[in-house]
Amino acid sequence: MQQIFVIAALITITAAGSPWIPEPQEQLDWMPWLWLDRHQEFVDNSQLHGSNLSVIFFGDSITEAWNYTGRSVWDARYAPLGTNNIWGNTNFDIARGVAAIVSELRSRLPTTKILLLGVLPRHNVQTMVHVDQVNEHLGILDNGGTVRFLNMRDTYYVGDGVFNTNLFDPDMIHLSGEGYTAWNQSMDALFTEMWNST
Ligand SMILES: *[C@@H]1O[C@H](CO)[C@@H](O)[C@H](O)[C@H]1NC(C)=O
Ligand SMILES: *[C@@H]1O[C@H](CO)[C@@H](O)[C@H](O)[C@H]1NC(C)=O
Ligand SMILES: *[C@@H]1O[C@H](CO)[C@@H](O)[C@H](O)[C@H]1NC(C)=O
Repeated sequence: MQQIFVIAALITITAAGSPWIPEPQEQLDWMPWLWLDRHQEFVDNSQLHGSNLSVIFFGDSITEAWNYTGRSVWDARYAPLGTNNIWGNTNFDIARGVAAIVSELRSRLPTTKILLLGVLPRHNVQTMVHVDQVNEHLGILDNGGTVRFLNMRDTYYVGDGVFNTNLFDPDMIHLSGEGYTAWNQSMDALFTEMWNST
């Protein structure tokens, strides 16, 4: 049974905390959901479907929006491969947090392949410096086999402060429909290679 974990690394500005130590996201007043309830839904879903899960996406609200903005690409490309999918919604702000997740997944699911994606470009040249540094650390986790790293930076960012704005939502953080088409295109070659390898 094929199983690929796609981890979309993410970056958020948090006031406190050590990103490699699991903890619930901060519960803000405007949030109509409870983070631990959402977490439990994913846990229940995983336990219910177990080894029938073949492609699992783990990430933040940008990953979650595959279910909304990116839905048509999702349905055409990934839905046929997976009986069910998980979107995580937890925030980690440095590579160590991501590394801890990769390490945990490796030990719990030793035969599952992990496709780790770099943090997506942010519409701010200063933040890009931060993003690039985190991604440089994440690249080290690529072992050429069970864990592969892909940086989709150049799809979304031309360089010198120029972003492909048509790929972003007006909030300049999330992606447009075209942004998800571009995600699939950027990831397709490596994803397919991993999917086909045993
Ligand atoms: C996996 O799918 C098969 C075929 O649909 C089903 O019989 C089985 O109960 C499922 N297993 C789990 C753990 O969901
Ligand atoms: C995907 O969206 C539907 C509503 O269209 C919602 O019911 C479902 O919970 C969402 N799935 C996830 C994993 O967020
Ligand atoms: C995903 O990308 C591949 C490679 O560019 C392309 O062949 C395929 O049609 C795309 N799928 C969707 C649903 O956009």
